[in-house]
This record gives sequence, C-alpha cells and structure tokens, in this order.
Amino acid sequence: MRFKISVPVASIKPYEAGKPLKELEREFNITKAGKLASNENSLGFSPHVIAAVNESLSSMNRYPEPVAHGLCRLLAERFHVGLENIVLGNGSDDIIALLAHGFLNPGDEAVMPLPSFLMYEISVKTAKGVPVMVPLKDYTTNLDEIAKRVGPRTKMVFVTNPFNPTGSTITRDQFLAFSEKIPQDVIIVVDEAYIEFVRDRAVFNSLEDPLKDQRVVTLRTFSKAYGLAGFRIGYGIMDKDVAQILNRIRQPFNVNTMAQVAAEAAIQDQVFLNKSIQATHEGIDYLGAELTKMGFAPLPTQSNFLMVDLKTDATRIFKELLGHGVIVRSMKSYGFDSFLRVSTGTKDENQIFIRALKQVLGK
Ligand SMILES: Cc1ncc(COP(=O)(O)O)c(C=O)c1O
Repeated sequence: MRFKISVPVASIKPYEAGKPLKELEREFNITKAGKLASNENSLGFSPHVIAAVNESLSSMNRYPEPVAHGLCRLLAERFHVGLENIVLGNGSDDIIALLAHGFLNPGDEAVMPLPSFLMYEISVKTAKGVPVMVPLKDYTTNLDEIAKRVGPRTKMVFVTNPFNPTGSTITRDQFLAFSEKIPQDVIIVVDEAYIEFVRDRAVFNSLEDPLKDQRVVTLRTFSKAYGLAGFRIGYGIMDKDVAQILNRIRQPFNVNTMAQVAAEAAIQDQVFLNKSIQATHEGIDYLGAELTKMGFAPLPTQSNFLMVDLKTDATRIFKELLGHGVIVRSMKSYGFDSFLRVSTGTKDENQIFIRALKQVLGK
C-alpha cells in the first residue's frame, strides 16, 4: 500500500467474530445450524422489545435522542446513581473505545490480562496507547502481576469479571486487595458483560456499592442476559468527571433509536431476565455434566459459556463440528490450542452439540 499506516494500528490483529449462522448454512447447505460461538442469548429477548421497537418505527425519520432519558432514568434508579454517572454506548465495545480515546496520550499504557477480550487491545492501540498484557495464572486473571505492571505511564487497567474466555471470576476480597495496590490516578475498568449469570455470592459486583471508588468504571451490556446483541447497546457507570469526558467525545447519536427503546423495554422485564438466567444455568450444568461424562474437565465457569480442553487440536474439532451444523470457538488464537469455548444455546442446540462432539471424537 502506498499510504503509511500508523505504527500501533499496523500491529492490530483484526477482531475475529464468531462465524455467522447464515454463512455456515450456505457453505454446508444445511437449514438449521446452531451457533454456540459468541456468548449470545439463544432464548431471544423479552417480547416487550418487539412491541416497543415496532412502535418506534414510525419515528425513524428523526435522529435518536442524544441521551436516552427514559433508559438512563431506569438505570439510575436501579443502581442508585445519578444520570451524570451513566454513559450509553453502541455496545460496551463503544465505551471501551471512548475510554481509550479519552484518557490515553500516545505511549500511555493500559494493563490487561492476556488473552482477554480483543477490543481492549484494539481500542488501546487505535488510541495510540500501549497495551501491557499480563498472562493468566491457572486460567484466571493474575491480579498481583497486573498491579505490579502498573507504572508511571499507566492510565488504566482492564479486568473482566466473569472473565472471557475462561469463565473465571474475581471475588470481592480479591478485588479490594487489588484496588489498594493501584495508584489513585489510574482508571480501573471492570467489565461485567456476564455479571447477571453469576451464581457464586463471593464474586465481586461493582454496582452493589457503586461509585464508592472513583477510579472504577463499570461496563455492562444488553447483549448477553438481555439478548439484545444485534441492537448494539451497552452502558458504563462511572464518576461524573469521567462520564463527562466520554460524553464529550462520543458521537452524539451513538445509540440508535431502536436500541434505546429495546433496552428500555428489556430492563423492565424481570420475568424474561430470570428465565434467561435460569435457562443459561441449566444449559451450563448440562454441558458441564455431559463433557465430564465424556472424560473431560471443563473449566469452572460463572458465565454463559465454558472452556474445555479436548487434549487434541481444537481447530480440527471446530472445523468438523461445522459439518454437523454446530459453530463453537476454537481457542487456538487465544493461545489455548486444544481448547474449545462453547456458549450455552437452547436445550436442542446443547444436545446437538454434545451429540456432534461425540461423533467427531468417535465416542
Ligand atoms: C468481556 C466482554 N466485554 C464486552 C463485550 C462486548 O459487548 P457489546 O455487545 O456490549 O459490545 C463482550 C462481547 O462478547 C465481552 O465478551
């Protein structure tokens, strides 16, 4: 290429999304594939969302509200925070990018686990910052090492709770001990994309006592437990001065009207949310039990996915499963060559996956 690309951007590996269902159906000429690759919600979403979105269609000639007041009020009430503490994003991906662009000068560092959700690294590099990657310890976030790697150029640290891709968690005590080691001028991003699925009461939940620590920025999403991944909406809860910076640089209409009304309807439907969480727990328990019966030891998870070591080339298994109409994720690109990550699906999808895996492995 004749144009010189920026040096940090040149080193970005493109985000690898889960294979889309339609693509698999076309490739293998199958009519009903199951996607257990992107930690989505196979149950769908609240029926109230359809009604709200249908109603909003007639006003799609207008720009969205720059701040979705109805939704923000509901979030403020639920978490006992002010409107000035909330930032909405086009998915929580958007807020990750805003944090990097708002707070990193060229060469500033952001410390994060390795591997972790790829958008941290991509956003930091895009903002000309330097990601400092700290390998996991026994498949969990190495909080001690992350704290040690914080230096004079560190502006933010990322932790994910529960962690993607392993499903591990950080307890309240572990988080408090960690936060004491982090300097007062470093932002602690706590990504809680999967927090609604947590069953273990010892796990840290940053919104149980929000804004107590001004450094903590909580990231949440409507993509997982609420099932709104295609609408693209997430939110951050943070100190008002941090929120002000993000609001200054975000696109004024970063969250489209349908996403706003869908999230407003979804957050008020506790019945669907409970159903979705319950189905996820049943799915995880089923997958865990079946994989264990097959002689594997899936990693403990508090999320809607689990990682399992198949003790063989997981990419080969991933490819063979495609032929059976099942999309999962090979963890090779994360450095775990023999691991698959499987998200919970519907009961049917979970059973189809287990059946297909048995066939592929000759069990
Ligand atoms: C840890 C983590 N954070 C954030 C996200 C992004 O969520 P959203 O759909 O809100 O952009 C994901 C999506 O898979 C994730 O796994």
